[in-house]
Amino acid sequence: MVARFSTVAGGQDSADNLRDVRGFSVRFYTEEGNWDMVGNNTPVFFIREPSKFPDFIHTQKKDPRNNLVNWQNRWEFWANHPQSFHQVTILLSDRGIPYSYRHMNGYSSHTLSFYNERGERVWVKWHFKTNQGIRNLTDEQARHYHINPFDLTKVWPHADFPLMEIGQLELNRNPDNYFAQVEQLAFSPSNFVPGISGSPDRVLQSRLWAYADAHRYRLSVNYQQIEVNRPRCPVSNYQRDGLMAAAASPGEAREGGQYALTNFYPNDRAAEGAPVPDASVVEPPMPLEQEAWVNYHDNRDEDNFSQAGELYRLFDEGQRERLARVFATTLQEVTAGVRQRVIAQCCAADEDYGRRVAQACREGAGESATAEQTLNNP
Ligand code: HEM
Repeated sequence: MVARFSTVAGGQDSADNLRDVRGFSVRFYTEEGNWDMVGNNTPVFFIREPSKFPDFIHTQKKDPRNNLVNWQNRWEFWANHPQSFHQVTILLSDRGIPYSYRHMNGYSSHTLSFYNERGERVWVKWHFKTNQGIRNLTDEQARHYHINPFDLTKVWPHADFPLMEIGQLELNRNPDNYFAQVEQLAFSPSNFVPGISGSPDRVLQSRLWAYADAHRYRLSVNYQQIEVNRPRCPVSNYQRDGLMAAAASPGEAREGGQYALTNFYPNDRAAEGAPVPDASVVEPPMPLEQEAWVNYHDNRDEDNFSQAGELYRLFDEGQRERLARVFATTLQEVTAGVRQRVIAQCCAADEDYGRRVAQACREGAGESATAEQTLNNP
């Protein structure tokens, strides 16, 4: 397997000790092809609606006018998107700066699925933790649970869905050639193997195609043939040639490969080795759920704050105090209107959270609404 850790807001000039979400990508070169889990070190994400992603990421990256971090842009987006608040609480808390890559968890964040040979599907979220594995959810439970199981801004409470251990991941080797083995890696959430699949999560659905677009642009159409991206099992399809085609030498000619004699399907050449669909690995149909697929971007009535509040109440006194100070320090750079809305979000999660952030803002910036004012006049 291979892993790559990355940044979300930071660019190539980012440092290991900066506050940021860490990308957490792992690839398993299985006998049935590559399976990629392209997640983060946080169990939730800023948005549940994929069309918001370009705007979201523009506010997190450096301002293109002057190449500086712009807290006004970041907070303005968050203040206008209450659905981000759970992830904002994680990012600005102590968890926003992992001690090292060895001291953080990895999560799929999204709900994915497993299916078996009987066509039964269960929903799963991946947790990469020392001595811990996944937790899962059946289709039936998913339909009646009080939180939408496909909402990327929510976690599944452990009390309802205990983690199930499936093994340990040991990272024990650094690359010998950073460019060839790390820079050219092309992880994609759509790289699945038989038995593992996606879910109706809208953000995941959009990621399933977005990554391969980036790979074709970044590494050429045949990026899947680069050594570090190449599956370790035979690849059989009817596609060949194109820029940087490199999968075979003439001596390795075989049906289904780069030097295949046949480049169309259906055909009459199965007996000579031309590939045919394998019914044993066909995925069962995904149920179409009105809630998850169609309407879910409308979040007017959505509870965006309970889980952030629960997380806040898990923090001890020191953690709460540091969280409030990170809020206050960065909120010094934003307009009063944005600051007011952020404090209102803190209050909605937990009154003490709101009071503390308002107090820290007053001490730091000399002016800001009090939490009491915000609570009374949200
Ligand atoms: C609509 C939402 C999203 C879109 C359109 C999107 C798009 C992208 C694109 C285009 C890349 C660069 C791919 C490449 O050049 O190889 C990327 C990288 C990445 N994204 Fe996303 N992303 C989204 C949400 C997320 C979420 C929710 C997560 C985590 C749960 C995530 C985790 C990552 C990671 C870890 C990388 C770096 C992967 C690597 O090491 O190659 N992204 N994203």
